Amino acid sequence: MSKNQEKAEKMRESYDKTAAVYDSRYSLIQYIKYTILLEKIIQIKKRKDTIMLKLPSLLLDYGGGSLLFIDFLTAFNEFLLHSELIKEKDLALSECNNDQMALFSYLISCLREDHLFNKRIDKINVEFVIPQTVIIDISYKMLKVGLEKIENNQGKIYGCIACDGQHLPFRKKIFKSIVSFTAIQNLSDIKRGIREISRIATKNPLVGLSILKKKIDPSDFKEIFISEFQNIEDLVIDDKYIFNLNNFIESLNPEFKMIYNSRIRTLIEKNEDFFIWSINKNINIYL
Ligand SMILES: C[S@@+](CC[C@H](N)C(=O)[O-])C[C@H]1O[C@@H](n2cnc3c(N)ncnc32)[C@H](O)[C@@H]1O
Repeated sequence: MSKNQEKAEKMRESYDKTAAVYDSRYSLIQYIKYTILLEKIIQIKKRKDTIMLKLPSLLLDYGGGSLLFIDFLTAFNEFLLHSELIKEKDLALSECNNDQMALFSYLISCLREDHLFNKRIDKINVEFVIPQTVIIDISYKMLKVGLEKIENNQGKIYGCIACDGQHLPFRKKIFKSIVSFTAIQNLSDIKRGIREISRIATKNPLVGLSILKKKIDPSDFKEIFISEFQNIEDLVIDDKYIFNLNNFIESLNPEFKMIYNSRIRTLIEKNEDFFIWSINKNINIYL
């Protein structure tokens, strides 16, 4: 077995062992990362009196583990379908009473602030289209935990594949969007992993990655990414995450702030990620 394969095997063993407790330990911290990155990459299109939020399909969640990201997207879709809150002019953040709702409300209010929502419109429908998604992960047990949670995935999971991200079992140029949360730093050969992502991506894909800072320096990663990724137009990097996060937490409701301070402040400081995403000039934003 090569050193590379040995490391991948160790990773698999370690995530297999902890798969059953992963969500209870990390869901909130991961939800925060999803919110921060979604705000950067989500596409916004207006159709008559409806605002459509979307990520282009087919989407690859690289190192997607227990399918937390899909859980989050599904809950976001439900939130928009059922919530009357966002139809009000001023979004009442204080009325949100659980982790996900506080984050969804925050996401919507960011988009609103960016002037993507016309403030003169009192009543507006906002919809989020869940993308068709493929999840790959080296840990079969993480994926199994994920699949057991999702009873009715509304046909949005196209495939769930246990494989090494350094050797993807896909034809070239099939994914329009690629996301990865806190997984790429685990690869023993990051270059090889990025080359694989580049191979299976369509031209000018939407890319959003969050990566553990203590394992790789953000600017070193950016260099690797640019040298290995052939189809990308422009990249933005945010390594001031903790700083931004503090502002972010301040803007949430008191209940959420309390949860954050007691449950995850230390965890997040030890496990700080940086974010990197593509600005795709070919993707139009309509309003
Ligand atoms: C910190 S977890 C993040 C999981 C998920 N992205 C989330 O947001 O909850 C890291 C994941 O990377 C996966 N992983 C580690 N090495 C990998 C590799 N070589 N190929 C694919 N997945 C890998 C692990 O099995 C684990 O599920």
